[in-house]
Amino acid sequence: MHVVFAASECVPFSKTGGLADVIGALPNAIASAGHQVSVYLPRYRETKLEHAETVVRSITIPFDDHYRFCSVLTGGNHSGVDYFFVEYPQYFDREGLYGTPAGDYPDNAERFALFARAVLEASKILGVPNIFHCHDWQSALVPVLLRTQYAEDPAFRDATSVFTIHNIGYQGLFAPDTLPLLTLPWDLFTIAKMEFFGQVSFLKGALAYADSLTTVSRKYAQEIQTTEFGFGLEGVLRDRGSSLVGIVNGVDYDEWSPQTDKFIAARYSAEDLTGKARCKQDLLASFGVNKTQTSLPVIGIVSRFAAQKGFDLIAQVMDRLAREEMIFVVLGSGDASYEEMFTRLSKQYPQKIAVKIAYDNELAHKIEAGSDMFLMPSKYEPCGLNQIYSLKYGTVPIVRATGGLDDTIDSWEPRTRKGTGFKFSEYSGEALLRVIKQALLAFRDQASWRELMRNGMSKDFSWNASAREYIRVYERTRQSRINGAAHAMAKPVG
Ligand code: ADP
Ligand code: GLC
Repeated sequence: MHVVFAASECVPFSKTGGLADVIGALPNAIASAGHQVSVYLPRYRETKLEHAETVVRSITIPFDDHYRFCSVLTGGNHSGVDYFFVEYPQYFDREGLYGTPAGDYPDNAERFALFARAVLEASKILGVPNIFHCHDWQSALVPVLLRTQYAEDPAFRDATSVFTIHNIGYQGLFAPDTLPLLTLPWDLFTIAKMEFFGQVSFLKGALAYADSLTTVSRKYAQEIQTTEFGFGLEGVLRDRGSSLVGIVNGVDYDEWSPQTDKFIAARYSAEDLTGKARCKQDLLASFGVNKTQTSLPVIGIVSRFAAQKGFDLIAQVMDRLAREEMIFVVLGSGDASYEEMFTRLSKQYPQKIAVKIAYDNELAHKIEAGSDMFLMPSKYEPCGLNQIYSLKYGTVPIVRATGGLDDTIDSWEPRTRKGTGFKFSEYSGEALLRVIKQALLAFRDQASWRELMRNGMSKDFSWNASAREYIRVYERTRQSRINGAAHAMAKPVG
C-alpha cells in the first residue's frame, strides 16, 4: 500500500506539540511494516533542510480572483519514508507555525487551503497513494477536495482518505466568505457539510468527507461523541460512529528513553536507577533551586499553556499546596494568561514553584528525567504524550482520568503493588490537592515507590501495536472503496 501523510508539523522539521511527535514516528512504523510512505509538510522558517531539491517547480493554486504558485521540495528519504515540503514563503516563512502569542495568523484559511491543494496536485506528479492520511484541521481540506472538486479526477479514482482527530478543540473556523475566496462551492455551506454555527469549519468538512475517522485514544473516541467533550461536533461524530476508531498514540523510545537520552546528566534504567538522582540535581540546578531543597520530591510540568491543560486548578489550591513538602518545576509557553499565572505563582511561592516560560526541548528531557512525579491535570486530553514518556523515565504520572491519560495510566494500588500512577476524576482544585497529597504520602515509602517506578518503566508504548491498528484501518478503508465501486458498477444504468 502507498500512504501519504499530510500534516502541519513533524519532528525534527517543525513542532508546537504532540502532533509533531506522532508524525515524526508513525510513518516510520508504517514503512517498517512494508508499506510505501510519504509525508507532506509545509516548509516553515524553522524547517531546516539539508540538500533540499525542488521536485515540482510550480503548482497553480486558485483563489477567487488570482492564482498563487507554490513549489514542492524533497527532504530526502529517512528510514524508508519520503519527505516532501510545500514551499510558499509568503505563507510559511514566518516566525510561528499558526500565529504569534498575539493570536492566529488572519490568513490561516488561505495558508492551509494552499497546502491541501498542493498535496493533491503534487501527488499526481510524485505518486497518488491508496490512502491520504490527514491530521487535524490544517490538512482537513484534503478529504473534502477529494470527494468534491476532485471527485471526477481519474488520477484519484482509487484514492481514499483517513482523517485523524488529534484535538477537536481546534477546528479551523472561518468566515463564510472564505468559501468563494478559496474557490470552494457554496453547496459546502450546509449543516451536513462545512457549516458550523454560521462559520465554515475545516474540521467538520473532514468529518463529513473522510472515508474513515480515527482519534488518538479509545476513551477520547467515546468522549468526543458527548456534549461535554465534542465542542459542538458530537452529533456529527455520533452519526459517523461506525467509521470512528480510537487508536492510542505510541512514543518514540529512540528519542525518549533514560537509557539513551543525549540531553540528560546521567543515563539510567529500571535495573540501575542511580543516574536518576544526578538528573534531579542537574534539573534543580538548571532552575536555580536552592541546594537545601534538593531532597524534596519534585513534581514536573512540561506543557503548552492552554485552557485544555487544567492549570487553573493549581492556582485554585496553591496556598494549600505550598504547605506540602514538595517543589514544582514548570516549563511551558502559550496563552499569555497562563504564562502570567505561573510567573505570578513563582514570585508568590519562590520556595515551591520554579517556572521557565519557554519552548525548550532539552529542558523538557531534563524534567522528564529529573522529576519524581509528572503532573497533567488536563480538562481534556485526546492522548497526551508526556505521561507516557514519564513512565519510561520512572517519573510517576499524576493525571486527571480523561482521554488518553485515563487509557495509559493505571492507579497505583499499594495492597496489590499494581499500577503506574495517580489519577483523579472530578475537575476541581480539591480533587487535585487530594491526589497530590496521596502521591506525596506514597513517595515517603521509598521501597514501594521504586516498585511503582519500575511498573511504569516496564510498560511498552512503542509504535508497533498502534501502527498495526492503523494498517487495519487503511485496509478496511480501501476494501470498502473497492466494494463501493463494485456496487456502483453493478447498478443498472438509466
Ligand atoms: P499537546 O500536543 O496537546 O501539546 P502532548 O502531551 O501530546 O500535548 O505533546 C506535547 C509535546 O510537546 C511533548 O513532546 C512535550 O514534551 C512537548 N512540549 C510541550 N511544551 C513544551 C515546551 N514548553 N518545551 C519543550 N517541549 C514542549
Ligand atoms: C494533540 C492533543 C494531545 C495528543 C497530540 C498527539 O495535540 O492535545 O493529547 O497527544 O495531539 O496526538
